[in-house]
Amino acid sequence: MKIHLCDSREEATRSAAALVYQQVAAKPCSVLGWATGGTMDALYSELVLLQQQRPLYWRELVSFNLDEYVGLSTDHPKSYRFYMRHRVFIPLGINEDCTHLLRGDVSDLDDACMAYERAIAEAGGIDFQLLGIGENGHIGFNEPGSSMDSRTRFTRLTLQTIEANQRFFAPGEFQPHTALTMGIKTILEARQIVMLALGAKKSAAVAAMVEGPLSELCPASALQMHPATTLVLDPDAAQSLTQQNNHRRAHPIKDLKA
Ligand code: GLP
Repeated sequence: MKIHLCDSREEATRSAAALVYQQVAAKPCSVLGWATGGTMDALYSELVLLQQQRPLYWRELVSFNLDEYVGLSTDHPKSYRFYMRHRVFIPLGINEDCTHLLRGDVSDLDDACMAYERAIAEAGGIDFQLLGIGENGHIGFNEPGSSMDSRTRFTRLTLQTIEANQRFFAPGEFQPHTALTMGIKTILEARQIVMLALGAKKSAAVAAMVEGPLSELCPASALQMHPATTLVLDPDAAQSLTQQNNHRRAHPIKDLKA
C-alpha cells in the first residue's frame, strides 16, 4: 500500500482528484469505480473544477458505482444514483449509458447483484477504483464481519453506519438500513485502488486498516493484500498511525494546479 500523507484536507482532496483525472487522461476508455459519501463531495467538486480548467473527454468512460441503498427509487434525491447524476455524470459530460449503478428498487436483488458482477467482467474488470472508508472500517457497504471472499450482494448496515449517515437524511425521513454493495473480493480485483480518508473520525479505522492485522473485523484491512493501492490522507485521518514519518512525501502526487 502506498501511503500519501498530505499537509491539509484540501491537499489530500486535490491529490486524490488528480489521480482520477490522470487515469482518465491516460486512458479515456477506462473502467472506473466511483464511490459516494461525504468525503467524495469535495473530490468531485475538484474534478469538476479541473474539467473546467483542463477539459478531458469523458464520453468513452465506463463506470461502476460501489454501492446503493435498498428501497430508494432511481430518481430519489437520497439515492446514490441521483447524487452521481447531478454531482458527477452531468457536470463532467459522462455518457450515462456507460454508467452502471446497482438497483436497490428491484424485486430480485440477488439477480441484480449477479448481473452486476457479470457486467463488470464483461467490461474487462475495473481499472481504477475510488474508495472512502467508514468509521468502522467498512469499504463500500462491506461492514465488519464481511467475508474477504464476498461478492456483490445485499447487506444490512450496522448501527454505527446508520448513525454516521443520518446527517444525509432529514429528521423523520426514511433512511434505508439495507444496501447492495460490491463485495470485498470484487473491490480487490480492481487493477488500481485509490482511497481518500479525511478527518479525525477516520483515524482509528485508518490505523486498523494500515497497521492492524488482516481481519474481517476491519474490512478495509483487505487492502493490505492488494498490489496497487494508494491511500491519500489528511493529517487528522493519519493521526493514529505510528509510522507517519515513513509515509510523509514518500509517494508524491503531481498537483495539477501547480
Ligand atoms: C458510506 C459509503 C462508503 C463511504 C463511507 C464513508 O456509507 N457507503 O462507500 O466510503 O460510508 O462515508 P463518508 O465519506 O461520508 O464518511
